[in-house]
Amino acid sequence: MSHYNLETKCLHSGYTPKKGEPCALPIYQSTTFKYDTTDEMGQLFDLKAEGYFYTRLQNPTNDAVAAKIADLEGGVAGLLTSSGQAANFYAIFNICEAGDHVVAASTIYGGTFNLLGVTLKKLGIDCTFVDTDASAEEIAAAFKPNTKVLFAETIANPALVILDIEKFAKVAHEHEVPLIVDNTFATPINCRPFEWGADIVTHSTTKYMDGHAVQVGGAIIDSGNFDWEAYGHKYHGLTEPDESYHGVVYTKQFGKKAYITKATTQLMRDLGSIPSPENCFLLNLGLETLPLRVERHCENAQKVAEFLNAHEKVSRVIYAGLPGDKYHDLAQKYMDDGRTCGVISFELTGGRDAAVRFMDSLKLANIATHVAASKTMVLHPASHTHRQMNDEQLREAGVSPGMIRLSVGIESSKDIINDLSNALENA
Ligand SMILES: Cc1ncc(COP(=O)(O)O)c(C=O)c1O
Repeated sequence: MSHYNLETKCLHSGYTPKKGEPCALPIYQSTTFKYDTTDEMGQLFDLKAEGYFYTRLQNPTNDAVAAKIADLEGGVAGLLTSSGQAANFYAIFNICEAGDHVVAASTIYGGTFNLLGVTLKKLGIDCTFVDTDASAEEIAAAFKPNTKVLFAETIANPALVILDIEKFAKVAHEHEVPLIVDNTFATPINCRPFEWGADIVTHSTTKYMDGHAVQVGGAIIDSGNFDWEAYGHKYHGLTEPDESYHGVVYTKQFGKKAYITKATTQLMRDLGSIPSPENCFLLNLGLETLPLRVERHCENAQKVAEFLNAHEKVSRVIYAGLPGDKYHDLAQKYMDDGRTCGVISFELTGGRDAAVRFMDSLKLANIATHVAASKTMVLHPASHTHRQMNDEQLREAGVSPGMIRLSVGIESSKDIINDLSNALENA
């Protein structure tokens, strides 16, 4: 499908029905797959033949959706996971082990920050966080001889910092490590990080890809561009025999698909965070309309950001679609038509109390911890995600007491703005 445009790929990639087969992607709700001879199934266990035998390792519904996302990102292979957290964990753990080190942008989703700063540390993998806006030299200074990965988000959640992908890719490659980019907020509709030098992309498909807030999921896509063999001493898990799989050497046997094959056969086999085929079916439905929804999210968010920016009770709006925003130029460079996402942060002049009054006066927007769903959702970090912090700690974390995170949905922009306008009256 590589010659088609994104809108067409969203509908047709990953599954092409043959004569008499269903037009909709079938749900293979089966744990196991039948074979006629002992040897036929033995060949699958040896990774010598392609085929399905157990859904923890592979399932036709899941594979079709992984192939679609890989095609959208311009990658060679993909793997779906049961959550975005699992996707980021697998993406890093597939090439890191105890004694290794990761460099990561500091403005990343809190869950990933904890994964890198706390949980991976317990497994012996250390992380140094760098300011996403730091110079190439400053980022380079964080590298150590045992650094195996550079990690960042295209649009950081919730800081809405836009990544200078080329700068990060250059530093990563100068240090002979891959750049992994979490592309959840931009989605491949707005940005394809491989086109700017990223090597591996991850997603929380729970967000815009699903779009309807019905299932949690994740994805890992490999560009196939990183030359693991050139740095085989670092990535020996890919370039040396895997004793847990009959001595297979992933780079030799699977070439550009080595990284995803290892993640599937080793990590999925041992850790098992697979999504259910039914969830993959739902994700596929979301993907079919992704371009329409993303366009509408961004169009609505732009109007809402402009409305808030002009409002007397709003002291600051963070949205890269606004010409005055610090990340406007980077958005213009990396995002198609400069479109970023539907998430906006803004601060109320009246501080914490005004923010609570505002939230409680909303009629249409849902108060929810989720973002990037079709319905408009809103969250007050000081009352919710950052509730344990006092005002001074909040400021240190870059979150003011009067800050609101708004995920603009695809309702009529007039209704969203009316709702915000009425609530601001009470703020
Ligand atoms: C950018 C980003 N990456 C990863 C995650 C984790 O995804 P999930 O909630 O699907 O585990 C999130 C969740 O909000 C996110 O915003």
